[in-house]
Amino acid sequence: MKISLYYHGRVVGRLVLLLAVLFGSSAAFAAEQEDGRERLSLNRGWYFHLGDVPMAPIKGHSESYMNAKAGNAPGPAGREFDDSEWRRLDLPHDWAVEGPFDPNENISQGYRPRGISWYRRYLRVEESDRGRYFELQFDAIATHATVWVNGNVVKRNYSGYNASYIDITPYIRYGDAMNTIAVKVDATQMEGWWYEGAGMYRHTWLVKANPVHIVTDGLHATPRLESETLEGGKWSIPVEVTLNNSGENLQTVTVEVTVTAPNGKQVAKQSGNVTVPVLGEAVAKLPVTIQSPALWSHEQTNLYRVNAVVKHGKRVIDEIALSTGFRTVRFDSQQGFFLNDKHVKLQGVCIHQDHAGVGVAVPTSIWQYRLRRLKELGVNAIRFSHNAPAVEVLDLVDSMGFLVMDENRNFNPSPDYMQQLEWMVRRDRHHPGIILWSVFNEEPVQASEVGYQMVRRMVAAVKALDDTRPVTAAMNGGFFSDLNVSHAVDVLGANYQVPDYDRFHAARPEMPFTSSEDTSAFMMRGEFTTDYDKNLIASYDEDFAFWGNSHRDAWQAVATRDYVAGAFVWTGFDYRGEPTPLAWPSVSSFFGIMDLNGFAKTAYYIHRAQWVKDEPQAYLAPHWNWAGKEGQIIPVLVMANVDKVQLLLNGKSLGEQVVDPFQMNTFDVAYQPGKLEVIGYSSGKEVVRNSVETTGKAVAVQLVPDRKALVGDGFDAMPITVQAVDAKGRVVPTDNSLIHFEISGAGQSIGHGNGNPNSHEDEKGATRHLFNGLAQLIVQSHYESSGNITVKASSPGLKTAKVSIPVKKVAAVPYVASQTAPNVHLSDWRTSPVASQRPDPTQKVADNDMNSWGWGQPPFMSQAKGETAPARYRLYRTNFTPRKNLARGDGELFIGDVVGRVEVWLNDELLYKKDNVRKQNLRLPIPKGEGNRELTFLLEDEGQDNAVIGGPVIVQPKGKK
Ligand code: GAL
Repeated sequence: MKISLYYHGRVVGRLVLLLAVLFGSSAAFAAEQEDGRERLSLNRGWYFHLGDVPMAPIKGHSESYMNAKAGNAPGPAGREFDDSEWRRLDLPHDWAVEGPFDPNENISQGYRPRGISWYRRYLRVEESDRGRYFELQFDAIATHATVWVNGNVVKRNYSGYNASYIDITPYIRYGDAMNTIAVKVDATQMEGWWYEGAGMYRHTWLVKANPVHIVTDGLHATPRLESETLEGGKWSIPVEVTLNNSGENLQTVTVEVTVTAPNGKQVAKQSGNVTVPVLGEAVAKLPVTIQSPALWSHEQTNLYRVNAVVKHGKRVIDEIALSTGFRTVRFDSQQGFFLNDKHVKLQGVCIHQDHAGVGVAVPTSIWQYRLRRLKELGVNAIRFSHNAPAVEVLDLVDSMGFLVMDENRNFNPSPDYMQQLEWMVRRDRHHPGIILWSVFNEEPVQASEVGYQMVRRMVAAVKALDDTRPVTAAMNGGFFSDLNVSHAVDVLGANYQVPDYDRFHAARPEMPFTSSEDTSAFMMRGEFTTDYDKNLIASYDEDFAFWGNSHRDAWQAVATRDYVAGAFVWTGFDYRGEPTPLAWPSVSSFFGIMDLNGFAKTAYYIHRAQWVKDEPQAYLAPHWNWAGKEGQIIPVLVMANVDKVQLLLNGKSLGEQVVDPFQMNTFDVAYQPGKLEVIGYSSGKEVVRNSVETTGKAVAVQLVPDRKALVGDGFDAMPITVQAVDAKGRVVPTDNSLIHFEISGAGQSIGHGNGNPNSHEDEKGATRHLFNGLAQLIVQSHYESSGNITVKASSPGLKTAKVSIPVKKVAAVPYVASQTAPNVHLSDWRTSPVASQRPDPTQKVADNDMNSWGWGQPPFMSQAKGETAPARYRLYRTNFTPRKNLARGDGELFIGDVVGRVEVWLNDELLYKKDNVRKQNLRLPIPKGEGNRELTFLLEDEGQDNAVIGGPVIVQPKGKK
């Protein structure tokens, strides 16, 4: 996998860093760094607390007063909270998948506890970065999230599927003081009826940029065909670059846009000046035209690079790039879908976003594996149901070649929700793979005026941002009412409703039509007996939801109607939750063409035979291990795309059948062990042959890595197929051995699965049963690793398998280093009025007195500037609770640059008295004990000499420099 997948933009800072490393010129780097953009992974080194953190209710006046003040969020939201005993982990992280299965939890979410949890992280920002723009980016958090930076709420996000971009520039503390990011995740909230995971399950980033910078998703570059026809070949990209200025001066900058063809040639260039107001935005409109570009299609993924550079004079101060493609899309009401004027029947699947072992925290390379599996199956279209996917998935879609329905999650045109929809369109509109926006899935108001009015507004919001693609909504009925949602969209998306297809087409012949969801058939991989009492469903394509169809019928309905643009099978892969038609102990779905690991069910072969046209195919189901059933009839499904098939058992013909390309072919075969073989013929010639064989019992475990090597960036992961083989090396399709894993070296296991929807095994543990012969282990490289990952898989009575996967050294994805809890810089102080008599340092300030004492931070002085004698004394006071590790007698108070006569009081006891004029740093041991400490300084003038505490005042481990 290419590292560039993680980036939207080229990063000037990185390039300069690279040059600096190559040429040993750190000075050049330091000078340039302040200008360029850096996008750093913020995945490492979070502290995690499973469950909410109980907080004592706030009751007192001063507490209430302070709680209401900026930067003073209490408890784990605050800066100084003690998280030293929290679990340390790296993101992405889905805590739900780590949890147990519990019959009292929600069936749709896969019977997994969800709840509320907290994440915290420390962030060090160097003094040298002062003046730059800082943005936190959370690609998605499930489900609702509140984010604090240094005790200030900076974001409340109400969807588990959209990103948050947070300007944290004003809150930053530089140098040793450090910054605290706290995230409260509320996954009691749900947005779906499928497994949604819980936590910070997508990537997180820190962007550092010039004060004048391109806003996130602020490069708008969506190609449009300008000539009447495709042959005319004239295209434009009405490029718009939106800039923001967090600085203190109005800035006029030059923005240069270039377009580079897949062959590396620059094909367009445009530049212009734009003045960006202080704390405001400006848009540079830089349209370009391109003649006869190489077109993008799902078969030929020609991607062009659009690059935007911002210059101040000659200095490059920002740079962003994205990929896009030139193609036309058209939905015709009679003939279906056309890509670049070429008819394409959509062979689509709906998919959710969880995978075996990892829940929704799916590494990009595992997405690449999933999409590759879909490609191999002949899928050309994907509906990301029912939410926008991670951005890296859409990058893969463009480069691997899929046509995508990008779907909004929350159906609501009110401002908060409209922002979610607009975020999706703004982020995604440059992706050539996206052919349709979907504003909803199955909404009960779809048949009504209310539904129509809501959709109309959402469609308008989409069109305002992108009018190059049609908008649909996935309706499961209500098409025929006088006013319904179909009147507000460009393409009617029908979920199921096959009996209404023709009726609708007859009633509204002008309306383009696609299935947006179909099938909903049930099967378990490798299972060929249905027994609802045991939660078993056979893989013969005979069981389906009463609103759905078998895989074969659903495709037949779509394939035989020209006006139906295509199919979107529910679903490409199994997913957790929604174990329809069953319930506990079933915890994941039965709908997939593949299981949760991406292993093929019978449906895979049905669709592959239907969808992959340029390769003769013939497959058999079931397997041929039926010991004890000798002589009994076993139904055999032959799935082929040739003219005729012949079935043979142990070399003896069982007859021939003309292939039915939709319903496929069935044979009833009296079982005898041995070899069941199919021969496929086209035009009278044998073109394909396939077989299933009775195997012996398992004698060895086998590990089959999906790829030859990993890169050692800590992101790259791969599935390893775990199987049991007989003495002849044949996979035993009925084996359910318990496998024990040992992983060592340059990586780790991040989870495993076996595709059994009834399995309650720990997805992260050291063991896993095979299910009908297979399991999958997912390994991921460690950060900055190289060497090998060694995986051992053993099972009692079977020969142990061992594989060694090379891990190649690569440059790390630029990242923010992990930080442990910082030393606490005490910064919120109260200041007594000046006094001419020695005040009592243990005196209390009334709980409701927020005004007679002032507020301040070091430096402290007995006599402030402008005050006149005889004032001689002043008190400074704050409160702190040392973290547990410093409360056991191991902590000290560091007080910097203390001059003159100073007393230090802690909880009404004199801790130290300084009686000389010398300037010195004090290091005072913090006495053992729990809880809050009141710290008071008494500063006294000595004649004309002011007593001073220059600061800082730090709670730190003893002896720390
Ligand atoms: C549809 C729905 C899907 C899934 C499916 C199961 O109604 O859109 O999310 O629930 O049914 O058949």
